[in-house]
Amino acid sequence: MDTSLKHDRPSPTIALMGVGTIGVGWAVVFGTGGCNVRAYDSQPAMLERFLSAVEFRLTKLAEAGLISEDVATVLDRIAVVTSREDVIRGANHVQESVTESVEVKRDLFAWLDEATPPDVTLASSTSTIPSSRFTSGLPGRDRCLVVHPANPPYLLRVAEVVPSEYTSDATTDNAVELLRSVRMSPVVVRNEIEGFVFNRLQGALLREAYFLVGEGVVTPRDLDTLVRDGLGRRWSITGPFATSELNTRGGTARHAEVNGSVYARIGSARGAGDPWIPETIAYVMDEMNEVLPGGDWEANVLRRELAMIKLEGLRHQGDVPSVIVEN
Ligand SMILES: NC(=O)c1ccc[n+]([C@@H]2O[C@H](COP(=O)([O-])OP(=O)(O)OC[C@H]3O[C@@H](n4cnc5c(N)ncnc54)[C@H](O)[C@@H]3O)[C@@H](O)[C@H]2O)c1
Repeated sequence: MDTSLKHDRPSPTIALMGVGTIGVGWAVVFGTGGCNVRAYDSQPAMLERFLSAVEFRLTKLAEAGLISEDVATVLDRIAVVTSREDVIRGANHVQESVTESVEVKRDLFAWLDEATPPDVTLASSTSTIPSSRFTSGLPGRDRCLVVHPANPPYLLRVAEVVPSEYTSDATTDNAVELLRSVRMSPVVVRNEIEGFVFNRLQGALLREAYFLVGEGVVTPRDLDTLVRDGLGRRWSITGPFATSELNTRGGTARHAEVNGSVYARIGSARGAGDPWIPETIAYVMDEMNEVLPGGDWEANVLRRELAMIKLEGLRHQGDVPSVIVEN
């Protein structure tokens, strides 16, 4: 995964608004992709830790053979600024990754729309909120859209590009082109819908998981094992449709014939019930405190990222073949 960008055009300048978990990830993606990156956060403490968080990840990626440029060369492209006026200066694309709140995003996008020239793309990393909910009243709503990454963006290299009904085709095309240029796989979500596709799928699985755990069918720890060592491993090679095709002699048609009505019955039996009840949440929390040691959330997040980098490095060295035709 050499993400260095080689092209004749000037490198785009990316303004990162918010440098928590996702802002740091975007800095790695755009920095290794050859872009100039400027980063701002309203919390000085987050800005202070930002560059060392990026450098640490770049170093680990380099050790795993996943980037070929010097860490210092990548870091030279990334600057921290201490005001929001400075971060947007000269930017071609603003990537907002601030708190997941309609009100916070509405205020910020109103300011961005006033403060930046009209040809700048204004993209939100929001996980679930359709951008029209915070951009519909803006004169520049045609240049606003969602570019939703997975976490961490530099390892799970997909991003959902979600235009609203107001977003111009040129804005969507520019976002797709930018993402491809930094070796991301953009997927355009054709209708604005809460949760988009990634989190609708994640949410569907999690909803059933909460039901099963709440009913005492399985423990949270054992459910995680089934997904981590079972479904997740398979899904890293084939998605759910290609999995169904390959799991059943007779392929998709036979799979739908045999399993379709079972899954439909299971789904309708669940109805509109909400499994996120306090007792079940407390039970899951207790088990998570046991399986994830120390109670230090940041440290556990980092351990997960390091394990993912290691795995990605091994996959890269081992050159795991793809079983599907990539488009
Ligand atoms: N964490 C994930 O797994 C994930 C994945 C994909 C997308 N997202 C989305 O990315 C966004 C950020 O999520 P995160 O997990 O990085 O959150 P985070 O809490 O780690 O970071 C948010 C950062 O935004 C800063 N901030 C808040 N208001 C601000 C403002 N007005 N101007 C500048 N900075 C501001 C905060 O100081 C903080 O550093 C959210 O919209 C979230 O839904 C998160």
